[in-house]
Amino acid sequence: MIVVDSKENHSRKIARNIADEILLRQKLNKNIVLGLATGSTPIFLYTELVRLHIEEQLSFKNVITFNLDEYCGLCTENDKSYYHFMHKYLFNHIDIPSENIFIPSGQVEQLFLKDYCEGYEHQIQKLGGIDIQILGIGRSGHIGFNEPGSEIDSVTRQVKLHEITRNDASGDFDGLENTPTHAITMGMQTIMDAKKIFFMAFGESKKEITKKAFFGEITDAVPASHLQKHKHKTICIDFNIK
Ligand code: GLP
Repeated sequence: MIVVDSKENHSRKIARNIADEILLRQKLNKNIVLGLATGSTPIFLYTELVRLHIEEQLSFKNVITFNLDEYCGLCTENDKSYYHFMHKYLFNHIDIPSENIFIPSGQVEQLFLKDYCEGYEHQIQKLGGIDIQILGIGRSGHIGFNEPGSEIDSVTRQVKLHEITRNDASGDFDGLENTPTHAITMGMQTIMDAKKIFFMAFGESKKEITKKAFFGEITDAVPASHLQKHKHKTICIDFNIK
């Protein structure tokens, strides 16, 4: 667990670590698979990766990305979609091949959803699994959109969003009545299978739930608490929780 006073410092260090791994793989002529998160927390990390691309010519040609989640019902053109978020903050500014970008679609018909989610999961496995997973946390205790009650062996699927999550998101959607009720998310198992995890939580509003997650009981009621069992994780926070 690393506590520093600024999220910018954390983000710079994580970006540097990711860059080193990308370069290492380039030397070996190999790809690297990144699991990416959305929300305000990783924005500076993405800004920093873009800076490394522009100022230090870091190439993303050997990078494959899988996003954690997407709201159901939003098309890719919707500026509230995570598809839009990722292109705005990262993908539009780096040289990652578009075919290397995987983001769950929020527009899959119910009938095809099960197959679609299995396909997403299968694609992650086929490309060798996630090497580095970036995570934030929701105040409900979710990681990705694995809300309380999510089981440790859950995989990519559609979920109902928790009341706290919808309330927190309602500002972005001009009110609760316009806020999506469901999302597609990678599962707990998908996340726990990542070889390395960078967990980030910044600001006092994340203090209580982060404390529960890493110092409380390991329980499906606080999905992030399962991260206690992950062998190769770095927890980056800007508050003291002891
Ligand atoms: C959403 C995402 C999560 C993210 C969370 C926190 O719910 N699905 O992956 O961790 O938001 O968002 P923020 O970083 O804005 O606090």
